[in-house]
Parts: sequence; structure tokens; C-alpha cells
Amino acid sequence: MCGIVGYTGTKNATPILIDGLDTLAYRGYDSAGIAVWNGTDIVMRKEKGQLQNLKDILKNDPISGSCGIGHTRWATHGEPSYINSHPHGDDKKQLVLVHNGIIENYVRLKAMLQERGCKFVSDTDTEVVAQLLGDLYHGDPIGAITESMRLIEGSFALAILFRDDPYRIYCVCKDSPMVVGYGKDGAHIASDIPAMLAYTRDVTFMGDKQIAVLSPEGIAFYDEFGTPIDKGSTHIDWDLDAAKKGSYEHYMMKEICEQPVAFRKTAEQYVNFKSGKLKADCFPWSDEDAGAVKRIRIIGCGTAYHAGLLGKLYFKRLAGIPCESEIASEFRYSGYEFEPGELLFVISQSGETADTIAAMRMAKAAGVRTVAVCNVIGSTIAREADEVLFTYAGPEIAVAATKSYLTQVTVLFLAALRLAQVRGRIDDARSRELIDGLAAVPAAMESILAKKEKIQYFSSREFSARHVFFIGRGADSALAMEAALKLKEISYIHSEAYAAGELKHGTIALIEEGTLVIALVTQPSLAAKTASNIEEVRVRGANVLAVTNGPMPDVESHCASVWRIEKTDELLAPFTAIIPMQLFAYYMAVQKGCPVDKPRNLAKSVTVE
Ligand code: F6R
Repeated sequence: MCGIVGYTGTKNATPILIDGLDTLAYRGYDSAGIAVWNGTDIVMRKEKGQLQNLKDILKNDPISGSCGIGHTRWATHGEPSYINSHPHGDDKKQLVLVHNGIIENYVRLKAMLQERGCKFVSDTDTEVVAQLLGDLYHGDPIGAITESMRLIEGSFALAILFRDDPYRIYCVCKDSPMVVGYGKDGAHIASDIPAMLAYTRDVTFMGDKQIAVLSPEGIAFYDEFGTPIDKGSTHIDWDLDAAKKGSYEHYMMKEICEQPVAFRKTAEQYVNFKSGKLKADCFPWSDEDAGAVKRIRIIGCGTAYHAGLLGKLYFKRLAGIPCESEIASEFRYSGYEFEPGELLFVISQSGETADTIAAMRMAKAAGVRTVAVCNVIGSTIAREADEVLFTYAGPEIAVAATKSYLTQVTVLFLAALRLAQVRGRIDDARSRELIDGLAAVPAAMESILAKKEKIQYFSSREFSARHVFFIGRGADSALAMEAALKLKEISYIHSEAYAAGELKHGTIALIEEGTLVIALVTQPSLAAKTASNIEEVRVRGANVLAVTNGPMPDVESHCASVWRIEKTDELLAPFTAIIPMQLFAYYMAVQKGCPVDKPRNLAKSVTVE
């Protein structure tokens, strides 16, 4: 989705803005632009397509100055084009701005402004904000901003340069993230933390409708009525290199390989592996709270939803609590009526996914207690949920979620284990067995990663597949959904996940000679049943690859190929079994020459509905 950067200070703004846009490029975009005060005027450069196009323009026609804003646009209103790319300005040439989000009442506002004589040049909702602000501006930036906020409906993060106040950047946001920070050479703004890390680690998260005014000397904050307010800062200890590719060809491979560390870091926040016990005070439940939970609902989108499907299994099987996992965009419009004693788990890597935020707010409005599982400190979900169980995956740059999924599943598992303990559903010996099993997970992951060439070789033979089916039962059915999503989103190969027993109710009609079917068989208690389903597709010509939990001769005998994970408890198998699936998707995409880290049409953080 769109990205915003801004800088005002003692240095030349242009390279700082371009560097920031480079860092934000992972979010997905189709045009980019900057505006810089060059000492006499605000000058803009923008271009459709890759950031390199903008860099080429700047090489031939440079701009320099110590205050500027920049933007990468992911088209929503109006096609990707030079005209529609940001920054946008007003007719009277008083200001320029960049915008993330969607202005929902832009048609009405545009008509009103056109009646007042404004001439529009683009198809964007953003230009409507620029013209509106221009119309309301009479020398008082904060007044114009607060006034415009009363008229605008929708979500926005705005960075604005006023021509008659040229060394200040005015920022405001609602339902769209924005962070500001003061570094040694001046003040910075960004829509996403990684773009700030090179300049400062102490950042301030802007709250809804709060205004920040950045100047070379510092940052001042105001509330939505223009009254000055104090805001604290948060120290971000993400490693700067964690947001860099290093020697890896793609972020996705780097992030797949980081999973043993991400898993360990996350688990260690909640588990004392030495004593073999959970750190009880890291979970938000007293014995009384835990006993009062009648039902759990988990919401998320995409991969986060898939993590929720495993969470559901853990809450049911370990803690004995009825649980449903739902897609946030469906749930928010389902008319669901919460019952007393329900707990809502909100899963989100970014903490900024629009549908997930809306579903969470709906639950909060109904008085339901919300627990976020989130990777980004200070994000909207982390701020608004009643409690947060953080994942410690570090920055995830590749669009395809890998280490965030793993750490989400880890936290859900541990939350279920904690609830199981408090509710007396599990004895000490079984708890210890599971915790010892968790301690062995990183080594089991490493052993798969050490043999990744085997998966690469398999992919080199299969990358021309047009359809791939993933099947499994229980936890494997949830894993299959994530495996199919990974494959389709980065390799563009049609893939489907099916509960193994459900195939013969229709979908088996699609199986023909050579169809690749990947059977996940990590649940020994269900293996015999899945083996029958494998046989059903094999006899119809399918080329079956099985992912097994240690050696499983009765399953393997039905399959053309087998990948084994190290034998483990079936509740823990998803942690390792997802890795070959991620590697498979990765290698298939690489073989096909797909842009692995930035698949077409996708954005990292989906801040619009
Ligand atoms: C897929 C993927 C997406 C995200 C989804 C939710 O690889 O990354 O499906 O999982 O957009 O994002 P978050 O977790 O940030 O709410």
C-alpha cells in the first residue's frame, strides 16, 4: 500500500526521501513522487512505475532543499499514472501534500469544490483533500487542518507542505499509521517504522486526528481541536540490518531462514525453557479470568486468518474452550452478536489491517475483551486492543508472510497452553512434554533449512504445474490453506487447499494424470484416514508428494515423493511442517521468474477495506 516519508532539517532532503521510499517499496506501489522546498519554491518530481524511474528523473533534473515529502502510491482512485501520482496541490498553489488511505466522501467534496471554482487535474481522492485544504487555508495551517478534518470521511495519513511556511511539515492521520521522530539532523516522518530506523529509534506514533508539526528544531503535537499536547516516544530496538536483504537474493528467503530465531525469540518471551514452565505473568489472565472464558473467537485476514485456524484447534484441544476462527472482512458484516464471556483474539502482523481493526472495534464496542497477537509495537491494533501478546518476528519485508505466521501460531499455542493450565485441563507432565518439544523446534527447523536444495530440485521439475492441490486433515488442513496461499500469491500458480476427506465430494473431478497433490500428513492420529484420501487421488493419476511427521511407511507407500519433518508431537508439527511449504512456494516462484518479494497486485499492509 502507499508509503509516506518526510524530512526537515539541516541536510539535503532529496536523498533522505528517496532512501525512505526505497525502504517502503516493499509495501507495494505503482508510482512515486517527492516535493522539496528549494529555497524559493516547492518543486515536485513524480513518475509512474518503479522508484528507479523517479531516480532517473532526479538524476537529469535534480532538486535540493532541506525540507520535503515523498510518497509511493498504490492506486485506489484513478489508474497508476503521472497525473494521479502524489504529491498533489491546490489550485491556488498554496500547498502540496501526500496521502495514504481513502477519502470516502470525496465525490461529494469534489462537487462542492468544483462549484466553488476549483479545477481538478487528477482522478484521485487525494487531490480533493489538497483542494479542500487550499480552500480553507487563510494563513493558519493548523486551523485549516482541523477544519478539513470535520469535513473529511474515511481514512487518511497526510504530510503537507505550505508554501508560506516552507521549513515545516504538517502531518495528521486517522485510521492510517504514521510515525514521527527527531534524529541528529532533523525531524522525520514515515508511514512505517523501517523507513525511520536509519535516523532515529525513538519514534512517536500519531494517534487518530492528532497533528504533528515538524520543524528543523523539533516536533510539536496538537489534538484535533488544535490544542497543544505532549506525546511520549517509544524506543524501537529492531535491528537495522533486519530490514535489509544482506546476502540473500530475496527478503522472503531471508525471512524463511530467520524462523528458528524468530520462533525462539517469541517463545522465550512466554516460556522459561530452563524450568520448563510458562511465564505466567506474561499472559493477561488471572485464574478467575481464565475460568470465565466461555468462548473464543479469532479474527484475521489472509495468513493471519490461517494462523487463527491453528489457534482454534489449540484452544479447543488443549484448553477445551469452544472457538471459531473467522475472516475479519466477513466477520465485521456478519451481524454477529457477542455472548457474555467471549474473548476475541485479533491476529495481525502489521497491526494496521483495515478489516481487522474494524472487527476489533466492533467487538470492543460490544464490551468484548480483545487480545491482540501483533508484531508491531505502537500499531493501531497494538494500541487499541485490551491486551497484546506480541510476536517477536522483527520487521517482515517480503509481502508474503512467513516468520510472522510462525510466531503468531507460536503465541496462539502458548496462550492455549496457559489457558489449559489455569483451567486444569492439562497436567504438569504433559505441559512439560510440550514445552520440551517446543525447545526442540528450532533445531528441527534448521534441519529442514539445511536440506532446502532437495525442495529446490523438486520445484525445478514441477514449476510448470498449472494447478496444485494441498490436502490434509485437522491441523494439516489449516496448514494446507497457508501452503496454498503462499504458492498462489508469489508463483501465480492456481492452488487450492482441501480438507482431505472433502475432496471426493466434488473437487476430485479436477484430478487428472500428473496433477500435483501435496498431502500434509503430520498428524499421526489422522494419518490412516489421509492415506486413504491419498490413494483416492493417486489411482486417478495424481502425482502425490507427502509431508510426513518422521517416517510414516503406511503413508509413504502411496506417494511418489516424501519430505519428512523430524518426528514430533502432532500439536507441534505445524511449526516445522510449514517451512517446506514456504520453501516450495519460494522456489516455484523463483523458477518462474516471478518478483518474489513484491508479487503483482499485492501490498504488504492492507490499510484499506
Ligand atoms: C499473505 C499475507 C497476507 C497478510 C494479511 C494480513 O502472505 O501476508 O495475507 O497475512 O494481509 O496482514 P496483517 O497480519 O498485517 O494483518
